[in-house]
Amino acid sequence: MSGREGHVALVTGAGTGIGAATARLLAGRGMHVALVGRRRAPLEETARAVESAGVTALVLPGDLGDATLPRRLVDETTEALGRLDVLVNNAATIAVGPLDDYTLEQVDRHLAVNTRAPFLLTQAATPALAASPDGAIVNVSSSVGSIVKPGNALYGMTKAALEYLTRASAYELAERGIRVNAIAPGPVETPIHEVWADDLLAAYADLSRRIPLGRMAQPEELATWVWMLIDPTTAWTTGNVVHVDGGQVLGLPPSAGG
Ligand SMILES: NC(=O)c1ccc[n+]([C@@H]2O[C@H](COP(=O)([O-])OP(=O)(O)OC[C@H]3O[C@@H](n4cnc5c(N)ncnc54)[C@H](OP(=O)(O)O)[C@@H]3O)[C@@H](O)[C@H]2O)c1
Repeated sequence: MSGREGHVALVTGAGTGIGAATARLLAGRGMHVALVGRRRAPLEETARAVESAGVTALVLPGDLGDATLPRRLVDETTEALGRLDVLVNNAATIAVGPLDDYTLEQVDRHLAVNTRAPFLLTQAATPALAASPDGAIVNVSSSVGSIVKPGNALYGMTKAALEYLTRASAYELAERGIRVNAIAPGPVETPIHEVWADDLLAAYADLSRRIPLGRMAQPEELATWVWMLIDPTTAWTTGNVVHVDGGQVLGLPPSAGG
């Protein structure tokens, strides 16, 4: 028994990578899962995996750059599945490059998808999460929310804001029984790297050399930590940002120049 059987989670970015692995893990723990992303096909693939665990999947395609979407997602989830116990703000967009080169459109889009959408989803989900016996939010940040890396000014800024939202909402929502935590992953083998890497294998080798534990992670290793933060047995923690990054925030390994 997981303690979450029959509970409902809403996971953004659930068609691929960390979000898909999280949806599959939560389904395996007996949770029904609402799946959000722009593309229907990957969401339906995740839905098949969720349903094979014997729980319900709700496919909710949509662009989180649309400010009206968060409330609709929460309404559709609670109407279809009857409740909402867990929100996982996982979807993000990323563009890598020098500060000088970002367009206004890119700045607005990063803020809308990576920061505004989690904020609006937190607002919209609060009444349902407060009605849950164990309401919880997990925000998926990044190690670049706390360390400065070349080319990450815009993306990193949105993740630092997400970490502030984690602490502020944890503080304000504690009295309503909702806990809010975040994970800050280091490099994970997911499609997100296709945006900036021409040669994925070379990029993965290079990233791995810069990690103290010497490798990238698989998405399932991050999903485990999302579960840890919503597990009823860890319920006396809120406002944390857990670095799940092979030691990346500690610095470069000595072999990479320390
Ligand atoms: N992989 C890493 O190395 C790494 C490291 C640190 C942090 N993270 C964080 O981990 C989270 C998950 O990323 P991932 O690595 O699993 O990459 P991913 O597989 O590319 O997942 C990102 C997901 O977000 C969805 N998404 C993107 N823009 C969206 C939008 N406007 N509206 C709705 N959904 C949108 C994408 O689906 P659609 O394209 O279908 O919309 C996709 O399924 C992100 O927050 C990322 O910043 C990843």
